[in-house]
Amino acid sequence: MAEAPTDPSHPAAFWDARYAEPGYAYGEEPNAWLVRQSERLPTEGAALVPAAGEGRDAVWLAQRGLRVTAVDLSREGLAKTGRLAASRAVEVETVHADLQDWTWPVEGVDVVALSFVHASPLFRAEMHRRAAGALAPGGLLVIEGFHVGQLVYREVSGGPPRADMLFTADLLREDFAGLEVVELEEAETVLREGIYHDGPAHVVHGVFRKA
Ligand SMILES: C[S@@+](CC[C@H](N)C(=O)[O-])C[C@H]1O[C@@H](n2cnc3c(N)ncnc32)[C@H](O)[C@@H]1O
Repeated sequence: MAEAPTDPSHPAAFWDARYAEPGYAYGEEPNAWLVRQSERLPTEGAALVPAAGEGRDAVWLAQRGLRVTAVDLSREGLAKTGRLAASRAVEVETVHADLQDWTWPVEGVDVVALSFVHASPLFRAEMHRRAAGALAPGGLLVIEGFHVGQLVYREVSGGPPRADMLFTADLLREDFAGLEVVELEEAETVLREGIYHDGPAHVVHGVFRKA
């Protein structure tokens, strides 16, 4: 399904409206790239899920044994995160905040999961710097987002309408230059993640480690 353009002046209203719709916009199951990292991910310690939305990744990480903090500016999304966690009998700490104003942890978490978090071009590099800074030594950052080539697919599988909000592998390599690249690739794939990510898509995904 097509994704309506985000109104940059009212992002919370946009996301609250989306998450007030019935069902889970991006599904109840975790992002497939995150799941592919199962062997690498710790099953204890702390995880941070910035822009967690309705909590699919946060809840899955909690089910695996991690203490999870899910941050989002949408109260509707966080309420659904709480309900999804309760339905799976796990706890997730939910924090209602704009990541631009939030006090990020420093060297405090073992995992950061960023699925389809496309900040404004003014904040993207800073957000990625803070996400990397949140990792404790040895920690892993798992990221998947849309490649600039997604613009041709966005009517079927979503994503922001602007090329300057999208990724390339080189851009992520530069943003996370302080971390070791464990895996990083651009891929044509098929997303099956709820009604808003459903169909062919062009993504970039990676795993980075803090030394
Ligand atoms: C495409 S959704 C992805 C949600 C989730 N990561 C997932 O993959 O299911 C993008 C999310 O980013 C959140 N978001 C966007 N800008 C944000 C900001 N400045 N601070 C906190 N959350 C933000 C939105 O509320 C929304 O939940």
